[in-house]
Amino acid sequence: MENLLPKTRPIKFHWLKLAKKQRLTKSIFSLEFEIPYSLKPNFTFEAGQYVTLKYLSNGAIIQNDFSMTSAPFEDKISLGIKINYDKSSSKDLFDNLEVGDFLEVSEPRGRFTIVSKPHEFRTIIGFAGGIGITPLISHFKNILHNEPRTRLFLFYGNKNTQDIPFKNELDELHEKYSDRLQIQYFYSQEKVGNGLFEGRLNEKKVALIINQFLNLDDTDEESTIWDAVDEVLICGKGEMIKSIANACYHHGIPKKNIHFELFEEFNEDIYPIEKEFALIENIKVDFKLFKHQYAATLKNNKVKLLQQLLIQGFPVPYSCKSGICGSCECILEEGEVELLENEYLTETEEKSGKILACMSVVLSKNIKVNFDLNF
Ligand code: FES
Repeated sequence: MENLLPKTRPIKFHWLKLAKKQRLTKSIFSLEFEIPYSLKPNFTFEAGQYVTLKYLSNGAIIQNDFSMTSAPFEDKISLGIKINYDKSSSKDLFDNLEVGDFLEVSEPRGRFTIVSKPHEFRTIIGFAGGIGITPLISHFKNILHNEPRTRLFLFYGNKNTQDIPFKNELDELHEKYSDRLQIQYFYSQEKVGNGLFEGRLNEKKVALIINQFLNLDDTDEESTIWDAVDEVLICGKGEMIKSIANACYHHGIPKKNIHFELFEEFNEDIYPIEKEFALIENIKVDFKLFKHQYAATLKNNKVKLLQQLLIQGFPVPYSCKSGICGSCECILEEGEVELLENEYLTETEEKSGKILACMSVVLSKNIKVNFDLNF
């Protein structure tokens, strides 16, 4: 996940030693870091979280976020990293970092997590596209290890049969837990002789998957596997997440049970906005950001708060622009906004006045906001 913040909030880094580096496909490699005993409390994490790596590339200090593929019980930090193009900073990282080197790694963060329920019989479905498999591997390993009754289904899309990151690790998992884990692969750029497995993972494919793989339930003859789904985990590009999340929702899964992680900026809402808002013009916004006090005037409330501040050149932190990453989290100190559906804030946080600028429609002539939550 590339870090797109114009400025970052304070993050705690520690020097970790690289224990392993491995190329997985033409464009994807993995890194594994040791956690020394003294830093174990700092690197306690939940499945589905990510860390930030800080490193030098082309004379500049780069900070990029990468989801962990390791599960908490494995006691190490493993990452899957995609080289997007030949001169990218991740290519530099692959070329220049050697086993035994030390690198600055942040403490784990992120909310693409679910509550562990070791005593329940659950059905969990995962959809991943390409490098989007990384947090799902962490989740799947964790669930298979901690929840002996939970069954899992993974639907994994890639371009072709040659370029599947973490295929060996997935094969090993499948071999070890074949009674509880099913994996189906899909290919967007290769014919494999069966139309079901060809093409992108999208809304249509979800309908086919439900009919073909998630139908009659051996454990409950009066029901289907799809009826029994407790949680859905989705990770990949914005278009894919939007399409699959909406398909799952339309096929009856409550939004609170559909979890997603985005690996790129996405300027659209994942779920369509169903409300209409009264037009308000010439809105005064006072806000605190990185210890500075700013004032801005918004033309109207047709565009959400974050986007308007970015257009005016303010260095507001952001990453996904879709209510998933929490980078634009702030407190509404005065005025009124409508906070649209988001994947990040808890009910308690929303009640305490926290909002996400990327999901906020301003509803009053003046608002006052504070982005400095951690100062
Ligand atoms: S930019 Fe990601 S939640 Fe707002």
